[in-house]
Parts: sequence; structure tokens; C-alpha cells
Amino acid sequence: MNKKVALLPGDGIGTEVMNSAVKLMHHVSKKYDLTIETTESLMGGCSYDAHGTPLTDETIDICYQADAVLLGAVGGYKWEDLEHHLKPEAALLKLRKSLGLFTNIRPAKVYPSFVNSSSLKEEIIKGTDFVVFRELTGGIYFGKPSGYDENKGFNTMVYEKYEIERIAHQAFKVAQKRKKVLTSVDKANVLEVSQFWRKIVAEVGKQYPDVKINNMYVDNTAMQVVRDPKQFDVIVTSNLFGDIISDIAGMITGSLGMLPSASIGEKYALYEPVHGSAPDIAGQNKANPIAMIGSVAMMFDLSFGLQDAAILIEKAIEKTLDQGYRTVDINQDGGNLVSTDEMTKKIIENFDTIFNQK
Ligand code: IPM
Ligand code: MN
Repeated sequence: MNKKVALLPGDGIGTEVMNSAVKLMHHVSKKYDLTIETTESLMGGCSYDAHGTPLTDETIDICYQADAVLLGAVGGYKWEDLEHHLKPEAALLKLRKSLGLFTNIRPAKVYPSFVNSSSLKEEIIKGTDFVVFRELTGGIYFGKPSGYDENKGFNTMVYEKYEIERIAHQAFKVAQKRKKVLTSVDKANVLEVSQFWRKIVAEVGKQYPDVKINNMYVDNTAMQVVRDPKQFDVIVTSNLFGDIISDIAGMITGSLGMLPSASIGEKYALYEPVHGSAPDIAGQNKANPIAMIGSVAMMFDLSFGLQDAAILIEKAIEKTLDQGYRTVDINQDGGNLVSTDEMTKKIIENFDTIFNQK
């Protein structure tokens, strides 16, 4: 099997974790008779510096031609004061929209050897395993009108019926394969757009009679995620609410450096860590590559149909953590402090061991 992967390392630690991911990706693909051809391109602040725009048409074209896109992270202090449309973050939104990536999947899972690394108590987080389906190409991030002048600032939270339907279908399908409970998060006690969201989710739910819908307000959800995260299995929500809930979920796992994500549309798929470009530790070989490596695992599963490879990568990560290896962001329990490269090497070694035991 031959696959094309577009690599967009981006800014800050993006390039470092991308190096790790690419090493692991080639290593794993060889075991599965998969040949991966990569094309690298600039995106974010580095693209702005080189081309005066954070996302060129050429980069978008490279993504259109790929079977999957891997993205590191974009942004940094250097580009914070640029005009809105020139900011690295604007490039990310444009890319998501251009590729039609309406479903963002963000799993929040606690690794057993890791229950002490969260700021939450062990008995609260132990056994947590849920996944957030965040709508990614609509809602207040893209609604018109938007803007600001001297006297006011405004955005529009709007959802078309089809936008809610398609993300709901994705979430229901996964809920069906898991615990058959779908928590739909909204603010229907205040916002009409949320009342509409709730109504459409209920309509779609008729096609999945075995899945129970649990409607929850977003403020309550934020509280419940830290009070009792084990109550959740699959969450579906809008763009802005999903952005917030998934960061909270990230802290359950100890560090944002642990959280992978997949963004999927009808034709294209992009995989990226939930964390940002972390300019404070960039270029120091300190970044945690696990979220990026986990994103590669999701790519093997969802884009290449190699679920087995994904599971083994996950196991290799788990084993490496069990052995006590820790990058600086997850070293609260005083483990064996390692660099980005060392962590990557350990994960690859453990992958081999687990693969050979199969
Ligand atoms: C995320 C990020 C982005 C978002 C930013 C960088 C545009 O926070 O992927 O969660 O808000 O979607
Ligand atoms: Mn975010």
C-alpha cells in the first residue's frame, strides 16, 4: 500500500514533535508493508515570515493531494500582533475550512501509570476514557457578521441543519460502538442556536434508538468534567464549546502534551496534537512528543485502516510511561526525565518489543 502524507510542522515545538512523529511513522509503516511518501510545507508564523501569509495556496494544494495531513502546531509571541487574517491561528481555521474538516475527535484517556500526574485526585480520574466530538467548521468561529469597530465587537453563532446532522451522525456511530450514551453539550437555556442544536440532535438520534442522549449545558459540563469525568463516554458539541471542554479534558490526562486529535471531513483528514507551539520551550528538545505520536496512531487507524498499528503505538506509549520516562511537562511524579528525542526513541523501541511479541 502507498500513501501520501502532507507534513506541516508549523512553529515552535511543532517542528520538534513532527520530527518524532515522522520517525515513528516510517518505522511503523515498514512493519505493515506501507510506503509513505511525504511532502513538507510551511504553515503558520514560519509561512508568514517566508511568504507574507500564514497559509499559501500551494500549501493547501499539497494537502488536497495527500491521503492525510499531519500538523505540528502554529503560532508564537512573534506573530501575536499581526492583523487578524495574518495570524497563524487564522491559517489553521482557513485550512480546516478548505479541507472541510467538520468532525474534530479529541480522546481524553488516563494512562494507568499516570494517575498521579494530573492536578486532580487519583480516585476522580482513574479509569477516565471519553472522547469529544467537536464541530470544527461552523458555529461562532465562522458565523457572519463578525468584526469590531471603536464602539462594538461582534461574532455570530449560527448552525445550519446539515452541519449539526453530519457531526451528530459521526458521534452517534461511535457511541453505538462504545457505551451507547451520547452527551450533547449546549447552552439551550439561553441560546436559540443551542435550542436548534438540541432539536436536530434528537431528530438524528431517532436513527440510533439504542443510543441514549444526555443533554447537558456547557457550564455544567465544565464542572462535571472535573467533578466526575468517568460519567462521560462520547460528547458531541459545537465549535467553541468543544474548544473549551477539550482543554479541560486535557488536564485530566495530566498535560496537553498527551492529547492527540483527528479532524475528518468527507474527503480529507488532518491529525494534530491538541497543544500549541509552546514558544517558551521551543528549540530545546524538551517538548513531549506523545500527543503528536498519538495523532499518528489515529492516522494509521482512521485514514489507513490499520487499527492494529494504532493499538500497538498506543501500547508502546503506555509502556514507556510505565517505565517511568517523563518529558518535563509530565514529570510531576519525579520520573526519569528525558528529552523529546529520547522519549521518541523509547517509544519506538517499545513498539518493536510489543510488535515482536505479537
Ligand atoms: C485548538 C486551538 C485552535 C482553536 C486555535 C489555535 C485557532 O485552540 O485547536 O483547540 O481554537 O480551534
Ligand atoms: Mn483549543
